[in-house]
Amino acid sequence: MIDNKTVFKIAQDYGTPTYIYKLEYIQNNIAKLNKYLPNAKILYAVKANPNGAILKFLAQNNVGAEVISLGELARALKAGINPNNISLDGPRQDTELILAAIKAGIKWVSLDSYSQWQLWQQFDYSNLKFFIRLNPDLDPKTHQHLATGAAESKFGMTLEESHVVAKDLKAKGQLAGFHVHAGSQISDFSVYDEVLARLKPLFEKYGGAHINIGGGFHVPDFDFEAFATIMHNFSKALGLKIVTEPGRYLVADSGFLLTKVLHKKTGALDHLICDAGMADLIRPALYNGVHPITAIAKSGNENIYDVDGPLCENADRLGRGIKLPELDSGDLLLVSQVGAYGFTMSSNYASSFRPAEVILTNNGTKLVKKRETVEDLLRLELD
Ligand code: LLP
Repeated sequence: MIDNKTVFKIAQDYGTPTYIYKLEYIQNNIAKLNKYLPNAKILYAVKANPNGAILKFLAQNNVGAEVISLGELARALKAGINPNNISLDGPRQDTELILAAIKAGIKWVSLDSYSQWQLWQQFDYSNLKFFIRLNPDLDPKTHQHLATGAAESKFGMTLEESHVVAKDLKAKGQLAGFHVHAGSQISDFSVYDEVLARLKPLFEKYGGAHINIGGGFHVPDFDFEAFATIMHNFSKALGLKIVTEPGRYLVADSGFLLTKVLHKKTGALDHLICDAGMADLIRPALYNGVHPITAIAKSGNENIYDVDGPLCENADRLGRGIKLPELDSGDLLLVSQVGAYGFTMSSNYASSFRPAEVILTNNGTKLVKKRETVEDLLRLELD
C-alpha cells in the first residue's frame, strides 16, 4: 500500500483524481514470471497500461511488448523496447500498421485472420516470423467481454484456416509457432489443458519453435507455479520455447486511484459522491469489476456505502456495498488493483478531464502525466 503521508501530499500537490503507481510491484511481478517461466519471452500487452514511465521501466527490465495499434507501437519504441522483442497482434493489421511494423523492424507477428495473411502478401515480410493465432473454440470461463477463445468471438483463425496458413509459412521457413489468447481473468486451469490439446496436433504437423500462450492470468490470485508446470511439460515434450503476453498480471497491483469524497447522501442507500467515476475507471461499470476501496486515515464506526462518481448515469460507480468508516466531504479514498485497464480506458465522457498519473520514487513522487484541462478538451476542435 501507500503510506498516508504520501497520499495526502499527492492530493495536495497534484489534486484528485490521480492514478498512483508503485513500480516496485511491477518488479516483483516480473521476478515471479522469471522464476516460474525462466526461459520464456515476456511480451507485455501494452493495452493494459501504456504509460511511458511504466513502459520504460519494463524495457529496462528486459520485457518486450505485444502491440495492436500504431499508437502502441510508437509508445513501445519510444520507451526503448527492442524491436526484436515486439510482436504485432490483434484484429487490425491494416496497410498502415503493417507498413509501420515493417519500418520499425519488429520481429514477430501474430496473424489473427486469413484476410490479414492475404494483405501481408502485398508487402516484403521476409524479416518477420509469424504466429498463427488459433481460435480454440472453447469456453474460457470468464466474463463474456473478456472471452476471446469462444468460437463465436472474432479472434483467431479457424482450425481449417490455421492449416492452410501454417503450410504456407512452413514452406517459407517463417512459422514462429502457434498462438492462443483464450481470454482475460482466467483462473480455471482446465482452460489451458484444452488450449494445449488443441495446439498439440498443429505443432506435431508443422513444427515451429515457439508456443505463444497469450496472457489472461487472473489477478490477484493466479497460481503461476501450477501453470508453469503445465507449460513446461508441454513445451519440453515438443521442444518449444514459451512466449507469453501478460498485461494485467504485470501491472494491476501497481496502480491506485486516489479520489476525494465530494458529497455524502443518505437515503435508501448511503452514497459517497466522489470526484472519480466511470470516466476515470470504467471496469466496475463495464465488467462488474471489483476493486478494493479504502479510506485514508479514517477509523471508527463503519457504514455501508455505494461509492459513486460525479456523473449523471447510474452506472457511474466505483464500488457497491463498500464497508468504510463514517466519511464526509473532503475525505480521501484509494481504489486499488487499478494499474491494468484503469487510466488507459478512461475517457472524456461528460467532458471529464482525464486524471493525472504519478509514480512513487525512492525519495518522493513524480508526475508522469498531467491532468487534462479545458484546453486539452478543446485542442482538436475546429470552429
Ligand atoms: N494478448 C492478447 C492477444 C490480448 O488480446 C490481451 C488482452 C493480452 C495478451 C493481455 O491480457 P491480460 O494478461 O491483460 O488479461 N479491458 C479488459 C481486458 C481486455 C483484455 C484484452 N486483451 C479489462 O479491463 O478487464
